Amino acid sequence: MSHVPPASLTGSPDVFDERVLVLDFGSQYAQLIARRVREQNVYAEIVRHDIAPERVRAHRPRGIILSGGPSSVYEPGAPRCHPEILQMGIPVLGICYGMQLVTQILGGQVANSPAREYGRTRCFIQGDPHLFVGIMDQTDVWMSHGDQVARVSEDFVSLAHTETCPLAAVRHRRLPVYGLQFHPEVTHTPQGSRILHNFVTMVCGCEGRWRLGDFAREAIHRMRRQIGGARVICGLSGGVDSAVTAALLYKAIGRQLSCILVNNGLLRKAEQESVIAEFSNHFQTDLHVVDARDRFLTALAGIVHPDQKRRCIGHAFIECFKQEATKIENARFLAQGTLYPDVIESGAAPDGPAATIKLHHNVGGLPDELGFELVEPLRDLFKDEVRKLGLELGLPDDVVWRHPFPGPGLAVRCLGEVTRERLDVLREADAIVVQEIKAAGLYLETSQAFAVLLPVQSVGVMGDARTYDDAVAVRCVHTDDFMTADWSRLPAEVLARISTRIINEVRGVNRVCYDISSKPPATIEWE
Ligand code: XMP
Repeated sequence: MSHVPPASLTGSPDVFDERVLVLDFGSQYAQLIARRVREQNVYAEIVRHDIAPERVRAHRPRGIILSGGPSSVYEPGAPRCHPEILQMGIPVLGICYGMQLVTQILGGQVANSPAREYGRTRCFIQGDPHLFVGIMDQTDVWMSHGDQVARVSEDFVSLAHTETCPLAAVRHRRLPVYGLQFHPEVTHTPQGSRILHNFVTMVCGCEGRWRLGDFAREAIHRMRRQIGGARVICGLSGGVDSAVTAALLYKAIGRQLSCILVNNGLLRKAEQESVIAEFSNHFQTDLHVVDARDRFLTALAGIVHPDQKRRCIGHAFIECFKQEATKIENARFLAQGTLYPDVIESGAAPDGPAATIKLHHNVGGLPDELGFELVEPLRDLFKDEVRKLGLELGLPDDVVWRHPFPGPGLAVRCLGEVTRERLDVLREADAIVVQEIKAAGLYLETSQAFAVLLPVQSVGVMGDARTYDDAVAVRCVHTDDFMTADWSRLPAEVLARISTRIINEVRGVNRVCYDISSKPPATIEWE
């Protein structure tokens, strides 16, 4: 399998030519740095901290940012960048650990600081004609460090300090190398975006030419080159990633695209119909809908353990997809809606950080044995960028803003055994949750809202009769990145309507609970 190399590596000037590399030293904020740079309309890419100088040159970056990280630069084995990178004449900004590393490499000393600084701190800016243009003399910054730069070589000038950190920002006298002890990428540093803007424009000289529209044109052009006259298969899931992938491909190759929707019986209410409707409104191309409901139910019979459910759904999906794909002639490519966080979190990027951050559980991944070449037009984008692109491509709001839905579908929300009857109960309850959240105008501000069917019966009373029925949990969270999440403080009236409707309208449910756990320590899904 192969994917298209970044266009800048193929030698053609393009929208990526103003590129900033973010060297990842294991910071939880590396992605955030890349996003903030992209908000300045400059393409940012996260790469391994130990990227070789010749790879850096191949990327032709306008600037390099060294992220923070959990290590201490003076510990043996602490991650380091190649020192030559600081001498290439390419502007460098070291943030936190990144600053400590550059100052150490260039002759300074880093030590554990007597006063550790965590959180919001007042910073006194001495000034800099480039990095700190338009920044006030005193500004709040977000600090998170136990070590700090104790001494810099004479080549450095101090640009800012806090009460406990005499060197909160520095600049090299001859090289275009800067360091910030604080984190400009977080919103708790109110002027952080301006500082990053100054770095990419004033220091790196970028004009900010990167636009999603250009990205789409470039991606379409690249896909045409890659695909030629062959046929591409794209799996549709109802989610925004696969919808945008299909829309881009359709623009690129039109009728050479074949889409497959596997109805595994684990979809939300009316999902198959809405995917077909959206699809036929947008594309005049080949759609294969595979009715595999029985196959998945049979495979899931008697299985209760979450991991086993996932595995069994994964296998059944691959089998179905394979069977359908072999019916499509001249199919050489498989399109996937892989996003940038998937690439870097799986450590799969050619220059990506080594660590696998997320143990992800996607069962939709198709194995190499299928023998397709991969087309992954979204692999350079973040989720919010994919949504923007979806809007630019004319996809309806409904598709673009749809909440994420896990690959194993309702199976991981139907706790205990997955049966047709239990799925029907869950599907109805789930539809009510979503309808009521939408009716209250809260769908866009919640990140995910759904129902979970519990394997628990409890006693109730309906009319004059005693009931002994199922319990449903309602889960509604907000999150930026799905790595952490908090439960949504839904208005009591909305919760009341959800509960009344579920109990009245869904036969077999007599109790509704609201899940008030955050992630961590809980997860968003229950399984
Ligand atoms: P958790 O439950 O891990 O979920 O907090 C984080 C996000 O990932 C989604 N999720 C999945 N997506 N396959 C998927 O494609 C899966 O197996 C899976 N499990 C969880 C979940 O819905 C949430 O958006």
